[in-house]
Amino acid sequence: MSDAPPSKLLILVGTMTNTAEYVAQAIEMDCGDLIGAIEVRMMDGLDPSVFEEDALYVICTSTYGSGDVPDNAQAFYASLDSQPRFLGHVRYGLIALGDSVQYAATYANGGRRFDERLRDLGAVRVGDPLFLDASTDTEPEAQGVAWCRDWLALALSGAPAQ
Ligand SMILES: Cc1cc2nc3c(=O)[nH]c(=O)nc-3n(C[C@H](O)[C@H](O)[C@H](O)COP(=O)(O)O)c2cc1C
Repeated sequence: MSDAPPSKLLILVGTMTNTAEYVAQAIEMDCGDLIGAIEVRMMDGLDPSVFEEDALYVICTSTYGSGDVPDNAQAFYASLDSQPRFLGHVRYGLIALGDSVQYAATYANGGRRFDERLRDLGAVRVGDPLFLDASTDTEPEAQGVAWCRDWLALALSGAPAQ
């Protein structure tokens, strides 16, 4: 892997009712001027080999059940346990969707779970996560785009992780 910053952003999406997917697609459409390529990939069928690309990663996932990752993310999340590998080369950002009023006790836990597991495997989170709260009326796509523009600038600057 070269020392140059990656020229690709890969957004991995965990969703049940598509909000996270719409956020990722808005980022794909709006942030293309900041990096060579942006790809949105649903988490269905993924395993840890997805982290072999020379890319920056954003985990964009909602929360279901009692603070679980969504159905389409379950197998991928489990594979990070069953097929563990060192991910020290991986730099990622986190967009965690949830509902702080209806599910206060497990707010945005789907994203928090990925964050914890990726950190355990040595991956480095860049910047603060973005929490998208379904109980507020702010547009998640607009929030996602604004966050990602700042996040990409930080990630591409090679700034140390927080
Ligand atoms: C059955 C159900 C369970 C949920 N469980 C949680 C939860 O435990 N914690 C949380 O923060 N949000 C929870 N949510 C809220 C969703 O994560 C939130 O609405 C999110 O924006 C949905 O995104 P999606 O459309 O990408 O799946 C739940 C929603 C539903 C319908």
